[in-house]
Formats: sequence, C-alpha cells, structure tokens
Amino acid sequence: MISKRISLINESITLAISAKAKQMRKDGIDVIGFGAGEPDFDTPSHIKEAAKDAVDNGFTKYTPAGGIKELKSAICDKFRKDNNLEYKENEVIISCGAKHSLFNAICSLCNDDDEVIIPAPFWVSYPEMVKASGAKPVIIPTGQKDGFKINPKQLKEKITSRTKVLILNSPSNPTGAVYTKEELRALADTILDNKIFCISDEIYEKIVYDGIS
Ligand SMILES: Cc1ncc(COP(=O)(O)O)c(C=O)c1O
Repeated sequence: MISKRISLINESITLAISAKAKQMRKDGIDVIGFGAGEPDFDTPSHIKEAAKDAVDNGFTKYTPAGGIKELKSAICDKFRKDNNLEYKENEVIISCGAKHSLFNAICSLCNDDDEVIIPAPFWVSYPEMVKASGAKPVIIPTGQKDGFKINPKQLKEKITSRTKVLILNSPSNPTGAVYTKEELRALADTILDNKIFCISDEIYEKIVYDGIS
C-alpha cells in the first residue's frame, strides 16, 4: 500500500529516543534526554502574549503561501544585522521550521538518482529527506582528528556528474564542530568550481561558546 519512496524512510531516531526518555521519566527513572533539541525553559511570555493577541484579533486566516511581508522583512533585518548579508523580501520564503525548509529545498533541487553529499556524523533526518526526494545520500565520514569537518579534497573525491547538493551543518548537530571562515571559503570555491548547490543549515548559529563567528 505504501509507496516505494515512503517505504525507504526510516523512523525518526530522535523522536524514538525522546519518547523512550519520556517513558523512563514517567516510570520514575532519573534520566536526561539528549534526543529532540528542545530548550529547558518555557516559551518567553512576550511570545505567548503575541500569539494570544493574534488569535484574539482574528489573525487566523490564510496568509500568502511564501509568508507574510512583516515576517520576511524581519528576516531580512536579521540577516543584515547578524550576518552582514543583504537579502530582499522576494528572496525569503517562510516555512514551518528548519525541517520543513530543508525538505522543501532538497525536493526543489533534486531529481531521481541525483546525489547529495552529507558529511558524517550528521543530523539523522538529512539522509531520510534526501531519500524521500528520490535522490541518493553520499556520506563523507569524518573523525575527531579532523575536528569532524570535511576539506575540499574530500569533497572533490565524492563529486560525480550526478552530484547536485552538499548539505553543510555548522555549528553541527551532533558533533558541535564549527567551520572557520577560511574553511568555508575553501569549500565554497570547490562548490562553485563544480557547479553544485550548498544547503547551509545554520540552525545553531547562536549556540557557539568559544567566540568563533
Ligand atoms: C541540524 C538540525 N537542523 C534542523 C533541525 C530541525 O529543526 P526544526 O525543529 O526547526 O524543524 C534540527 C532539529 O533537531 C537539527 O538538529
């Protein structure tokens, strides 16, 4: 009954671990969950209030598919202020969180049998999203001695005529590795030379403890 494409996808290990930790806590076991990356604090009250106000004021109807203008404008301001990047509102698209953005980006770029390069260790959803798009994950292993980061030579070795995308995640879940500006520039040169795309997942850009920016 289930399509071949969806049958290729494994259960989310993150959600399975989180559910197990929750059950263990329910059973009275003192356990800390390292599964889903949820903050250990409550949603700040000004966010709750803004959500309640929006509902009370009837802000409950369809919005433009790509997102509302005010949010796009706030995102452009963020990129200008935090990242020194100049984007226009028509270059920004809103979706329901990082996973949805990544899935949309992968599905928009990949055709069947295209290859998507993913440095390992990786966030578990990347290969599953690639498989769901019909493309094939191609893994570059990394280890402690290289700081869990890939270099241009390793990238070049994996690039074939079928390569479409490199997925880069810095700061990385799960290793915490952060690429320096120079390392990113060197990888960018290889990406441009080989005319492939890079999906840069920077979800943890604010969780850096040793000053790298
Ligand atoms: C590297 C990485 N990217 C994306 C996501 C998904 O983020 P969201 O909850 O916004 O969909 C996660 C969540 O764990 C993640 O670790």
